[in-house]
Amino acid sequence: MHTQRLEDRVSIVTGAARGIGEGIARAMAREGANVILFGRRDTVKETAKSISDSGQKAIGFKVDVTDAGGVEQAVQQVLKQFGKVDILVNNAGIYPYMPFVEMPDEVRDSVIDVNIKGVWNCTKAVIPSMIKQKYGKIINISSVTGPMVSAKGATIYSASKGAVSGFTRALALEVAEHGINVNAICPGYVDTPGERGGGSRLGMSADEYIKKLAQGIPMKRLGAIDEVGDLAVFLASEESKYITGAEIVIDGGNIIQEIKG
Ligand SMILES: NC(=O)c1ccc[n+]([C@@H]2O[C@H](COP(=O)([O-])OP(=O)(O)OC[C@H]3O[C@@H](n4cnc5c(N)ncnc54)[C@H](OP(=O)(O)O)[C@@H]3O)[C@@H](O)[C@H]2O)c1
Repeated sequence: MHTQRLEDRVSIVTGAARGIGEGIARAMAREGANVILFGRRDTVKETAKSISDSGQKAIGFKVDVTDAGGVEQAVQQVLKQFGKVDILVNNAGIYPYMPFVEMPDEVRDSVIDVNIKGVWNCTKAVIPSMIKQKYGKIINISSVTGPMVSAKGATIYSASKGAVSGFTRALALEVAEHGINVNAICPGYVDTPGERGGGSRLGMSADEYIKKLAQGIPMKRLGAIDEVGDLAVFLASEESKYITGAEIVIDGGNIIQEIKG
């Protein structure tokens, strides 16, 4: 019989109402974890219900990762209800692209609040119990954009994901001796509702935009949310127990291309 790789594990996935977070929540639930989906709107409860309706263990919590007090309260609730947190996936993120000269400070601050402070808040809330139990897996959803490559309009997004890289390495060093692994996933283009929204910026329909992006990728398609889910399961499982402080790219070969002369 197939043993489930995350049986009895308790996992929090942020920004899990849709997109990559949903893919990760579904993949972890399939592997037997108790998955707690954090999302800033009630839709997160519907996503959780659709997972639990198929017989897996999932529950949705309305939590905005930018609200440190709310995050702390929600994590305490999870600890009370499930007794522990084994896995945290910091996935919630926003990516408003805009030229640097036009970007209002409010947009800059919103990216810092979600993509950096959100990761900080959730990690801060779960780490003490992980240290106490001498076990934990923190998985940060970074990006190729910032840590490895970049694009016009992505100044603050790149800066935020570069920060996630540095945070991942520094924290990995601090908590390694406590049995906690801290790693980052760096996706390239993944077909999500958020990514599909990028078409409107260029005056294209979502389908036209996705098709155009796919043409430039060596595998001729975008990544699927369950493919990122599979990688997150690997990083949450015992198969990766000697991996920490790493950034793993999942992009269909997109960033290794040389421009032809
Ligand atoms: N898709 C890609 O191509 C790609 C590539 C590289 C990296 N990433 C990263 O992957 C992560 C997920 O991206 P995605 O494409 O799946 O995005 P998405 O389709 O927009 O989904 C993101 C989810 O996060 C939620 N969220 C946003 N801010 C939040 C907050 N403050 N508190 C709680 N939840 C919040 C959103 O809630 P609402 O439903 O309320 O908006 C949404 O459900 C992000 O960190 C992104 O930077 C994505």
